[in-house]
Amino acid sequence: MESKEPVRVVITGAAGQIAYSLIYAVAKGQVFGERQVVLVLLDIPVMVNVLKGVVMEITDCNFHLVSKVVATDKLDEAFKDADVAMLVGAMPRREGMERKDLLKANVNIFKVQGQAIDQFAKKTIKVVVVGNPANTNALICSKYAPSIPKENFSALTRLDQNRAQAMVAEKMGIPCNEVRNCIIWGNHSSTQFPDLNFAEITVGDKWVPAMPAINDDDWVKNEFVTTVQKRGAAVIAARKLSSAMSAANAIVDHVRDWWIGTDDENDKKMVSMGVWSDGQTYGIPEGIMYSVPVKIDKKGNWTIAKDLSINQWQREKMDLTAAELLEERNAAIEICDAE
Ligand code: NAI
Repeated sequence: MESKEPVRVVITGAAGQIAYSLIYAVAKGQVFGERQVVLVLLDIPVMVNVLKGVVMEITDCNFHLVSKVVATDKLDEAFKDADVAMLVGAMPRREGMERKDLLKANVNIFKVQGQAIDQFAKKTIKVVVVGNPANTNALICSKYAPSIPKENFSALTRLDQNRAQAMVAEKMGIPCNEVRNCIIWGNHSSTQFPDLNFAEITVGDKWVPAMPAINDDDWVKNEFVTTVQKRGAAVIAARKLSSAMSAANAIVDHVRDWWIGTDDENDKKMVSMGVWSDGQTYGIPEGIMYSVPVKIDKKGNWTIAKDLSINQWQREKMDLTAAELLEERNAAIEICDAE
């Protein structure tokens, strides 16, 4: 991280709508600061022409931090020596498509990308999976990249955290940057558990627990939880397209914090990431990519936030989303094994 070499960043689904916002933010220095980047844009062969247009626009932006752009449909070229991979591209669910068919298409995408990462990327690569089902795709990607530590793979749940924090800010009539530590447990799906028990807001110049200030248990347990869980669907219903600007913004938050750390003066800040569960923490089953609150040091190593006390209501919600992830994992592995 200290070298002055450009950071080699792979963005998949680079011709798609999330990438259109994401590329701009990465090129502008919002993730790696004033550090040069090589932008590697991967999409499928039918999108190569669209990618050419994206590259023209990058050129026309005169980004001073972009040292090179590589646009490709080849996995080996894309992942060669990659430092960071933002795996956005995935097969979208089409009308009439069974959940199993969607899973099958995506398992295969993330299996071959995992194999390419294993073979061509730096062993220190940091991977964030965005394409849905993000947690299970991240699991499969990591399974097929055994030479890379499992800790280097993650699934995006930061958008859900950001949605939760925006709701608290709105409820309290305060700016978003005065809310932190809203936690997302579990799957990036409608079973996720957005949890305010450890959330904080600022009063004066101090961080204080948010729950007593919100003082509305019914809202916290009902409207808040279901609104965050269903926010993605609400955006699709309104826009006829899934969240893109806010997804890109969340990827920026996720990777920036992973790259430079979340350390604040008291080490109290937590962010949510879908990460490998070793079965040792908070009763989360082993072998799934489950979203948890993490703290990240300045070298980019994350650890699960410790000593959070979990009550019965939280336990039930956490177990429900774990059960869904176990089911997805088993279906995905069955598909892989049948190949
Ligand atoms: P999009 O359909 O606009 O773009 C997807 C791009 O991926 C397309 O250009 C497509 O050609 C490409 N692609 C498909 N298969 C590929 C492969 N094997 N390799 C490389 N590129 C491939 O979709 P959008 O809106 O950009 O969303 C991308 C994904 O992100 C979707 O799966 C969506 O559900 C997911 N998503 C996840 C969120 C999260 O919080 N985890 C939030 C919002 C979206």
